Amino acid sequence: MVRLVYRSATFLVFVTLAVANEVFICRQVDGGSDCRNYNDEDLARTNFSETPSVVIRNGTIDDIERLLNGSLYHVPRFYITNLVAVEGSQSLERFPIEPKRFSVLHLTNSGIQQLEITGPDDSLISLDVKQNRLTTLGNIKFLASLEYLNADQNAIESISLDDFKDLHQLTRLSLRSNQIKSITATRPIILPYLKALDISDNQLTDLNVTFWEFQILETFNLNDNSLTRVSGGLRERFPEITTFSVGGRNNWDCQWIDDFLSSRKDRSWDLLVTGDRPDCPNQTRIARMICCHDSKNRS
Ligand SMILES: *[C@@H]1O[C@H](CO)[C@@H](O)[C@H](O)[C@H]1NC(C)=O
Ligand SMILES: *[C@@H]1O[C@H](CO)[C@@H](O)[C@H](O)[C@H]1NC(C)=O
Ligand SMILES: *[C@@H]1O[C@H](CO)[C@@H](O)[C@H](O)[C@H]1NC(C)=O
Ligand SMILES: *[C@@H]1O[C@H](CO)[C@@H](O)[C@H](O)[C@H]1NC(C)=O
Ligand SMILES: *[C@@H]1O[C@H](CO)[C@@H](O)[C@H](O)[C@H]1NC(C)=O
Repeated sequence: MVRLVYRSATFLVFVTLAVANEVFICRQVDGGSDCRNYNDEDLARTNFSETPSVVIRNGTIDDIERLLNGSLYHVPRFYITNLVAVEGSQSLERFPIEPKRFSVLHLTNSGIQQLEITGPDDSLISLDVKQNRLTTLGNIKFLASLEYLNADQNAIESISLDDFKDLHQLTRLSLRSNQIKSITATRPIILPYLKALDISDNQLTDLNVTFWEFQILETFNLNDNSLTRVSGGLRERFPEITTFSVGGRNNWDCQWIDDFLSSRKDRSWDLLVTGDRPDCPNQTRIARMICCHDSKNRS
């Protein structure tokens, strides 16, 4: 494993014994990439001003903020993955996203607990923070130019779609495999370019899509929650839908899912029911891949 260490000089002597004092960085150069290990001296010496993107993999880093504020300050596109925090270090918990600085940030599997989005920003278009330890998305509302947001495999517990009301450029939103129990909106949320939405593998028990105005949504994954029904017209609300994924751990109200499935007669959309056959205590639909139960008090 290539390790990435950036420490103060006094601490360096000790650290060099424990881990290699190197940063594995790939810089984009004339259509290709130049990958090598950098030590602290190289980093201080190298001018990254005209390097549009940098890849850092498998590093151990003590102070990401210091590194980003240092020689990598002017790099607008970062792809950082498998960054390992030094034991006892707090530095990776918060990742600062300063306004008008980055255009692409892919920060995956790096132990990040908090995104510090400090003000309105119209430069960040792609944010991938999959496989971290986020419990909220923070001030995502400032990122008005965002086209792609992936926060899969974190520990997010709730989503307020009100925070997305100005994210008009969003085309793909993925929040798969979190611990989301509620998705709320207090006003119509218009996302005119949203094509793909994934909220699968969460803990939703109910969902109300009345205020969701996603006119060109094509795929919507809501499989593997604890849903019994969706209010607000799941089929009617998304005129351009081609694929719904609804199976897995959901335990639908039989009447609701029957009504929903009957709208499939127009054959304008597909149903995705992949994965393991669920263990249903009661009734099933579509080749036993969708669980449902009879509700006592039907409305
Ligand atoms: C780095 O390069 C940029 C552009 O070439 C230049 O403006 C800047 O002064 C350089 N910085 C240093 C510290 O040499
Ligand atoms: C990072 O670690 C992964 C998994 O251990 C390995 O497959 C990959 O080659 C490593 N990448 C680098 C740049 O060392
Ligand atoms: C990095 O720079 C920002 C402002 O540009 C500042 O707020 C922050 O404290 C700096 N962090 C470190 C570790 O120097
Ligand atoms: C869904 O939300 C709308 C708008 O807030 C509300 O009028 C409606 O009663 C809700 N439906 C259910 C079943 O809660
Ligand atoms: C499933 O059926 C069992 C017995 O047939 C019943 O006790 C249970 O309440 C049902 N579960 C649901 C969610 O309807």
